[in-house]
Amino acid sequence: MTHSELMAKAVRARRGAYAPYSRFAVGAALLCRDGSVYTGCNIENAAYTPTVCAERVAFFKAVSDGHRDFAAIAISGGPMGAPGTQTAPCGVCRQVMMEFCTPDFEIVLGTEDDCRAYTLSELLPLGFGPENLKP
Ligand code: THU
Repeated sequence: MTHSELMAKAVRARRGAYAPYSRFAVGAALLCRDGSVYTGCNIENAAYTPTVCAERVAFFKAVSDGHRDFAAIAISGGPMGAPGTQTAPCGVCRQVMMEFCTPDFEIVLGTEDDCRAYTLSELLPLGFGPENLKP
């Protein structure tokens, strides 16, 4: 699957965003190494802190289905009602990626027409992960 095709799935997933407070809608599409794709959108909450980002929804759906091997994620975000623009993952989502992904995991940002992939190690240098807890 191309980066542009994965981004198209993120754009589609963004339609499901529940973001009445920020009115910032995000969609994500997570590509597993077996070729399957899990999507997510941000889901906000009146108490604010229970809000979950689109990326984590995609990861947790995939992990709960038994997937642990991931190749790439595409993210599309922006003000509700406007086309998505470049939206980089928050620090918490980068840390979730660190738990399940290798340093070469690709994070695709931008739009279907103009997207660029960054590696996890570029976006989270010197990250703390499962390897650090090994005796
Ligand atoms: N958000 C995401 O879903 N992913 C990101 O990468 C950045 C932020 C959501 C969280 C919240 O619902 C809204 O965007 C504004 O922060």
